[in-house]
Amino acid sequence: MENWPFRTIIEPFRIKSVEAIPFLTETERQEAIRRAGYNLFRLRAQEVTIDLLTDSGTGAMSAAQWSALMQGDETYAGSRSHERWEKVVRRLTGFPYIFPVHQGRAAERIIAKTMLGGGAVVLNNTHFDTTRANIEQAGAQAVDLPSPLARDSTTHAPFKGDMDLNALERALKEDADRIAMVMLTLTNNAAGGQPVSMANIEAVSARAKKAGIPFFLDAARFAENAWFIHTREPGYADWSLERIVRKMFDLADGCTLSAKKDGVVHIGGLLATRDEDLATRFRAELILGEGFPTYGGLAGRDLEAMAVGLEETLDTDYLRYRTQSIQYFAEGLQRIGIPVVQPPGGHAVFIDAGRLLPHLAADAFPGQALAIELYIRGGIRGVEIGSLMFPNATLELLRLAVPRRVYTQSHIDYVIEVAESIRRDADRIPGYRLVTEPPFLRHFHATLAPLA
Ligand code: F0G
Repeated sequence: MENWPFRTIIEPFRIKSVEAIPFLTETERQEAIRRAGYNLFRLRAQEVTIDLLTDSGTGAMSAAQWSALMQGDETYAGSRSHERWEKVVRRLTGFPYIFPVHQGRAAERIIAKTMLGGGAVVLNNTHFDTTRANIEQAGAQAVDLPSPLARDSTTHAPFKGDMDLNALERALKEDADRIAMVMLTLTNNAAGGQPVSMANIEAVSARAKKAGIPFFLDAARFAENAWFIHTREPGYADWSLERIVRKMFDLADGCTLSAKKDGVVHIGGLLATRDEDLATRFRAELILGEGFPTYGGLAGRDLEAMAVGLEETLDTDYLRYRTQSIQYFAEGLQRIGIPVVQPPGGHAVFIDAGRLLPHLAADAFPGQALAIELYIRGGIRGVEIGSLMFPNATLELLRLAVPRRVYTQSHIDYVIEVAESIRRDADRIPGYRLVTEPPFLRHFHATLAPLA
């Protein structure tokens, strides 16, 4: 599809296996969301028609991945599947020490246990919620240094996921002794799924190296980030995606990677480092919480599916379709007057609920209010990324994450039509208040009630 002469972006695959989706009446949905305490995480799958809660572990595996499952070698130590997996990951990332984990947050927890003590600081463009929670659980502090451009959802800039280099230098000058790690999240999920430029990765890497501080990537969406570097950053149009990916990893001392995103598997992740001593500590922690280092919390078959998925995800036809279908979604919403974070990122459309619902203050949770309305009207499930998820959020967003290779254009057209019906009487959407609130990651379990 390199020089595709048509406007219509077609899925670069055909569908071999299908799954029916549920349809409820609006009254049934009103009852379901009330029973769920107005928290969409508490809904049953059978109550959701279009599930855009997350792009994590929800992708459709290819025929090649399903057949790789049958090649799984379930040997406890030294399995053939691990060898295959390690070869693929090493070629992709170049890291000498690589460990499979059951998902991204397991890698985060191992880092928190081995590299962070009380009082330590971790800098990141923007921490994802589980990354932040694992750091805070260790008694350390997670500090976000997003690009100032990310604060304004309307500005068009190619790499709004970048870290603010001035803020990084200030932090390194004032607080270097306490900083245990510098991270970059690719793409910057919590800040609108925006990509990070190679120039920014290089600059952050150089500053961390100079300060003698380990620099890690949170590489959950490494392929989508590489695609944006390929298509938006001067100098990379002629580079293969594999070469771009390798350069990204070459600039880092290690990475965490949730393979449930760009790896297109239902479960799996990895942790990597160049440091032998650190690898020894990772290994010890891995055995305690995940498993022996050649399976690390996964079955042999999961390693097989991940190895295939990590290679498939760098297919240019796939990544072009993936990013253009997100753009189609964002443009459709924009056209009917729904404000979305600009430019659209790689895995989701982020609606600026703060701007759509100006009558709701942050403590009335406009992102959550919109999420609930979209569910009641159309059975569509998104996730709030605003003051409910992050109590000091700068933007009140509703994320509609698109699972990989799952929904077609007509599903997306339907979502846009439902959103249009909401926009027409947006000023009547009620705000919400918290009823119950757990201490960590409150958005998963909190219950809410509509404001009178
Ligand atoms: N890092 C980023 C940037 C993520 O988006 C996620 C998960 C993780 C780490 C943790 O990985 O789920 O495999 O343990 N994000 C999902 C989401 C849950 O919906 O964005 P995990």
